[in-house]
Amino acid sequence: MAVIISGKEVSAKVRAEVKAECEQLKSKGVTPGLAVIIVGDDPASRVYVNNKKKACADVGFVSEEYALPAHTTQQELLSLIDKLNNKPEINGILCQLPLPKHLDEKAVINAISPLKDVDAFHPSNVGRIMIGDYHFLPCTPAGVMELIHSAGIEVSGKNCVVIGRSNIVGKPMAMLLLHENGTVTICHSKTKNLKEICSNADIIVAAVGRPEFVKDDMVKDGAVVLDVGINRDENGKLCGDVDFKAVEPKASYITPVPGGVGPMTIAMLMKNTLKAAKLQNNIE
Ligand code: GUN
Repeated sequence: MAVIISGKEVSAKVRAEVKAECEQLKSKGVTPGLAVIIVGDDPASRVYVNNKKKACADVGFVSEEYALPAHTTQQELLSLIDKLNNKPEINGILCQLPLPKHLDEKAVINAISPLKDVDAFHPSNVGRIMIGDYHFLPCTPAGVMELIHSAGIEVSGKNCVVIGRSNIVGKPMAMLLLHENGTVTICHSKTKNLKEICSNADIIVAAVGRPEFVKDDMVKDGAVVLDVGINRDENGKLCGDVDFKAVEPKASYITPVPGGVGPMTIAMLMKNTLKAAKLQNNIE
């Protein structure tokens, strides 16, 4: 029987801390502001953007939504980003991904000022993470680390396996575990002996994007299992990258889907936006 790490509870705590700090900032005349850009009408993106705006309101931030039509040109999008880069009331800029195919995602990420890049996707922020000298951490990996800390799990010296190598989750996740002295292996679609490698892990982070990919025969007794996946199973029900029912009895700690890593992502976005507001106003 594993301890279930509740992202609902931990994220509520993070948000309460951000809210308290936001009140202090407001007393100094600074109200954190987040601009959220959404291009087109992808229903999942719409849900995420609504949740981000709601989270801003809950912690006392100002949020501005820029909902652009699907046919927006690269130039129009870049000129909006330029305007927001130079708008003092806006401390964080987030452009919801994925963008429509005709837009150049890389160029868009590059255009956001690194000081307002609360996703931590800009190459300069990615580089800072590599050398361990950063302002912002990418929200999902930072949320996973927060869950690990909340449960009092020690990373140092542990075998950590990250399944998935995306720029948004897998790669930075591996780096954050390494910063805490984990021995880190990154697995991906070309990995041989995946089962064997996973079976040797003390900590597994599943970020493959495949429903219930991690089975009980891939997990050793007492392992810590963190599930980044948000998928739909064949019945349309929300599920993670881990076969929770099968893996939970073997794990020592596990995160559920929903209610695990998911709520942490937005909480960490709030944390980054607060940090951005402080940085831009030379506070602390
Ligand atoms: N799309 C899916 N996840 C994210 C995220 O964390 N940030 C942005 N900007 N887009 C996303």
